[in-house]
Amino acid sequence: MWTYFAEWLSFAVRWVHVVTAIAWIGSSFYFIALDLGLRKRRALPEGVSGEAWQVHGGGFYHMQKYTLAPAELPDDLTWFKWESYSTWLSGAAMLILVYYLGANLFLIDPEKLDLPVWGAIAISIGGLALGWIVYDALCKSPLKNNDTALLAVLFVYVVAASWGFDQVFSGRGAMLHTGAMIATLMTANVFFLIIPNQTIVVSDLKAGRTPEARLGKEAKQRSLHNNYLTLPVVFLMLSNHYPLAFATEWNWAIAGLVLLIGAVVRHFFNTMHATGKQLWWCWAVAGILFALVITLSGAPGWRAEAAPGNEAAREWTGDPQVALAASPYFEEAQSIVASRCSMCHAQEPLWPGMIHAPKDVRLETGDEMIHYASLIERQAVRSHAMPPGNLTGLEPAEREVLAKWIASGSGRYVAGDPRL
Ligand code: HEC
Repeated sequence: MWTYFAEWLSFAVRWVHVVTAIAWIGSSFYFIALDLGLRKRRALPEGVSGEAWQVHGGGFYHMQKYTLAPAELPDDLTWFKWESYSTWLSGAAMLILVYYLGANLFLIDPEKLDLPVWGAIAISIGGLALGWIVYDALCKSPLKNNDTALLAVLFVYVVAASWGFDQVFSGRGAMLHTGAMIATLMTANVFFLIIPNQTIVVSDLKAGRTPEARLGKEAKQRSLHNNYLTLPVVFLMLSNHYPLAFATEWNWAIAGLVLLIGAVVRHFFNTMHATGKQLWWCWAVAGILFALVITLSGAPGWRAEAAPGNEAAREWTGDPQVALAASPYFEEAQSIVASRCSMCHAQEPLWPGMIHAPKDVRLETGDEMIHYASLIERQAVRSHAMPPGNLTGLEPAEREVLAKWIASGSGRYVAGDPRL
């Protein structure tokens, strides 16, 4: 019963998380575009720095921005903060449900570091807290006077943190933690800086004092960081569904490239909203960086042996299904899958607490193996995402056999093999 409940709880929380994130990112993108699109068309009221006309849902909207504040503040001021807080809170709940309660499956990789569950959780919480403390200190250091230098240092900092997470967690856990760290910085910016500063400004204005300019400047800088971090954080949160992204020793470098992609894509839109100019080179740069990501995901690591099964192809035209079934490696591959995968990937999994084959991928019969051959290749040969944390101890030689079996399906027989 608990397992059913846990599964549905996880789904429900994910649902909430995605919805709150849409609300947060949506309102944040909206205000950035609005801010950049403000125009000074005519004599504007006292204190107004720009205005915009918009049409949406059958109505016309006339927005005006007061640089500081209007002479008189209305009582019903709408604040935008719960979009951010609720995204962080539901994200924290997901972290607990998926990565803390499922630490053995998704967070710990005994081949990297054989952490006890409590140890992994302590590193996770400590890492996220430290991530904010160091970031906040960097933003308050003398670097604060130079936006570009600060952004460059922050870039190196996030990549280093990502590398650090990869030293202690599974690839999947590491990438998710890089995302969670960035998301924590973003929400903490709202919670500890942007909203408190704005609150001081409001109360200063109500009391007839002139607010310090520093308050607005600090908030604006954090807001700029949040703007540039939005796209990468979404990539990192989605990455755990794509083993080619996380199950490589280069995952921290991929995280770095994604930070750059996010920045150039935002630059394209920021410029377009501000000036109407479309800097198409931004997309070319993003494309090149993405090609680098793809290349890195298949690059051999410095720890691992070269990926097996890449031997030269020979001319072949045939039915892969038939070839897979006829492969001399089929029987051996079947016994490997039976001993290393089927305890989880079965109609009735034997793995404690599992009530359904993960992602409904069942690997009990030869037919099922043939059906999922390309997925097996992606998860257990090209990447080492399966078995999770190599819980069932799949040997490199056994991956090699799976590679050869799958290779025979596409006619890529391994040259020089005595059995062929
Ligand atoms: C300890 C249990 C366990 C073992 C053993 C295991 N898996 Fe998995 N497998 C999982 C879980 C859990 C998921 C779902 C992962 C997720 O939610 O992203 C999964 C997902 C998969 C998927 C689907 C991935 C997708 O998103 O499309 C494939 C394919 C797969 N495993 C193959 C294998 C192979 C091949 C082996 C043996 C070499 C194996 N697994 C061993 C637990 C296991």
